Amino acid sequence: MLNILIFGPPGCGKGTQSEFLVNQYNLKHLSTGDIFRENIKNKTDLGIEAKKYIDQGQLVPDFITIDMLGKKMQSKNDFSGFLFDGFPRTKKQAESLDDFLLKMNQEISMMICIDVPERELVSRLLKRGESSNRADDQNKEIILNRIKVYKDQTEVLKDYYQKQNKFFNVDGISTIADVKEKIFSLIDIYQRES
Ligand code: AP5
Ligand code: MG
Repeated sequence: MLNILIFGPPGCGKGTQSEFLVNQYNLKHLSTGDIFRENIKNKTDLGIEAKKYIDQGQLVPDFITIDMLGKKMQSKNDFSGFLFDGFPRTKKQAESLDDFLLKMNQEISMMICIDVPERELVSRLLKRGESSNRADDQNKEIILNRIKVYKDQTEVLKDYYQKQNKFFNVDGISTIADVKEKIFSLIDIYQRES
């Protein structure tokens, strides 16, 4: 199985690239942000709780997020692997993910990090905020807080996967199609060599 973790700061292009990856490699896309937004839309208990954090650009607490992700991983499927998008975001989440996968006799194959500088992230998210109704895209302060949370709590995971020789970096400052080609080529090399 091919289990990919697509990683990087808010607005780097994780969701955009995930759409290409799921089709090309037949992966099951698990985006914790999308799952939370779906729950917020449907006003579930989980959505009501998560919204308090998401609207401020804070992380939803680990115990809620890990439990939710674990349940989503259990659904039966015919996929060739998982594509994790926006998870893990803390060391605790990464360790839990390792446990979930181990129980399935699986592991993360690669972490692909899309590298984009802060100024570009802010501009992309503010632009999207003009048309999306994502509360966390609506003002610069919340966007900057999301980036700060990424730096303080999430970026450390690069090290976590680097130590396992699973970390791959992609320059995210080019067209969507260019970034896609770079990611495909990393995965194709990985698959040839393993
Ligand atoms: P989440 O939904 O994961 O959001 P995020 O990581 O903050 O980032 P985005 O999804 O906004 O960006 P993206 O990297 O997917 O980029 P996209 O492709 O959309 O999380 C939201 C919130 O949920 C979190 O803040 C937290 O509160 C909570 N949460 C989620 N997971 C959690 C977890 N594991 N633990 C705790 N809390 C959690 O692209 C962005 C824009 O840029 C788009 O408009 C796109 O068209 C454009 N774009 C993309 N690529 C390019 C390019 N190459 N050139 C120009 N524009 C581009
Ligand atoms: Mg996303």
